[in-house]
Amino acid sequence: MFSKYKKVDPLVAKATGAQATDGGADNVTELPTAAPEAPRKSIMKAAPVQAVAAAGDKEKKRKERLGDIKLELHKALLDNLNLAALENATDQDLKAEIQSIAQESLDEMGVVLNRDERQTLTKELFFEVKGLGPLETLLQDETVNDILVNGPQQIFVERDGKLQLTDVTFKDEKHLLRIIDKIVSAVGRRVDESNPYVDARLQDGSRFNAMVPPVAVDGSLVSIRKFKKDKLGIDDLVNFGAFTEEMAAYLQAAVSTRLNVIVSGGTGSGKTTTLNALSSFIDNDERILTIEDTAELQLQQTHVGRMESRPPNVEGKGEVSPRDCLKNALRMRPDRIIVGETRGEEVIDMLQAMNTGHDGSMTTIHANSARDGVSRLENMIAMAGIEMPLKAVRSQISSAVNLIVQASRLQDGSRRMTSITEITGMEGDVISMQEIFKYQRVGLTPDNKIIGHFTATGVRSHFSERFKLWGYDLPAAIFEPVAAQ
Ligand SMILES: Nc1ncnc2c1ncn2[C@@H]1O[C@H](COP(=O)(O)OP(=O)(O)OP(=O)(O)O)[C@@H](O)[C@H]1O
Ligand SMILES: [Mg+2]
Repeated sequence: MFSKYKKVDPLVAKATGAQATDGGADNVTELPTAAPEAPRKSIMKAAPVQAVAAAGDKEKKRKERLGDIKLELHKALLDNLNLAALENATDQDLKAEIQSIAQESLDEMGVVLNRDERQTLTKELFFEVKGLGPLETLLQDETVNDILVNGPQQIFVERDGKLQLTDVTFKDEKHLLRIIDKIVSAVGRRVDESNPYVDARLQDGSRFNAMVPPVAVDGSLVSIRKFKKDKLGIDDLVNFGAFTEEMAAYLQAAVSTRLNVIVSGGTGSGKTTTLNALSSFIDNDERILTIEDTAELQLQQTHVGRMESRPPNVEGKGEVSPRDCLKNALRMRPDRIIVGETRGEEVIDMLQAMNTGHDGSMTTIHANSARDGVSRLENMIAMAGIEMPLKAVRSQISSAVNLIVQASRLQDGSRRMTSITEITGMEGDVISMQEIFKYQRVGLTPDNKIIGHFTATGVRSHFSERFKLWGYDLPAAIFEPVAAQ
């Protein structure tokens, strides 16, 4: 019956035979993945279909029962399937095989399931073998942005900017570790006690980070930033209320006239999304080079060279840092350079590139405001070991960076461009800057949604002459403050 993918190991074959004669209870509990606290026999007692009749918590019981059965079947599957042979199996073949193994085990358990339950079970078992187990349904759910696993029993997702606890769980830490291992070994990495954290990219492009015990105290921590095939464009962001059409027109002028732009923001505030959207304003005939830790940007232009930096391997060798990529990029005749995130010594080369002929370059930094962003740049330069007087550092920054765009995730989960600030030069030892647009908060609705609006600050753009010379004659109305409604 399990002809194609069944293990040929005689011991297992014998054990499976035993399963058929004695109900398989002992055989299954002896498997390495078996949980000692969940002996097979008790499940069989809990399983009869009649027991689930109580109207009130019928659904809950059904879930529990399915969960238990799934564990059993999963064990049976791991025991019966020849995992090596699976690599070449078609999904259809594999599903059929899983279905027949599952049906046989269900018969042995004396469990009757309806069609829906059987289908759900087969799907979950399929994900277990071929995909990322319990995470797979969340990965396929289009409404989920982030998946955050805090140990085997707690999985949060982010939908519409809000974190929600899901009812998805792993069986135990071992199960979670097996899925982590599956992900990282697919990209030639390893994660264990001696090397307890890892960054990787899932097959679909999603960004993956894991940290395992003992560094992760209560069980492995996993964070997944889902890859969006259709990144939000300028129009989407305007429609979502991330910024206004007037701001978009200003940004178009800024990017087209090759101002150097930094997108600043906190974790998950929408920096990469903003950078991606801004890059759509770049002319199609420019040569753009992108450098990222994990390739997330999706530029629509024809002439794009993408680079991905690489961390050192297990032996600590083979690292290609963002700085290495950046240095190399400068020899590759770029018109513009886009660095996914500047967070270390590459800041030196980034500023230099911005200062020396690669204007129109863009990057993101982690900071909470434009001012804070400048301090971050100063700190990064200091930490890169460059011994320069602060004034010289600041002067370097002020001549390199023209615009800081602040992305924020507000407390109601909405993501907005809360400020667009121009850097205009130096005044004494201080970098002078002026805010052109901002998000004005005015209050909270009873259900905690933020009330506010975007407005220009009324300050005339430092670059208006430049815009005009390049053919972007922005109407004066764009820069007029909006009165509070
Ligand atoms: N204005 C927006 N409205 C709705 N969703 C958004 C908006 N901006 C970004 N997102 C979504 O929020 C998630 C996080 O966005 P993004 O990856 O751009 O953040 P980030 O600041 O680059 O995060 P990180 O700090 O982890 O790199 C993504 O799934 C993205 O699709
Ligand atoms: Mg990002």
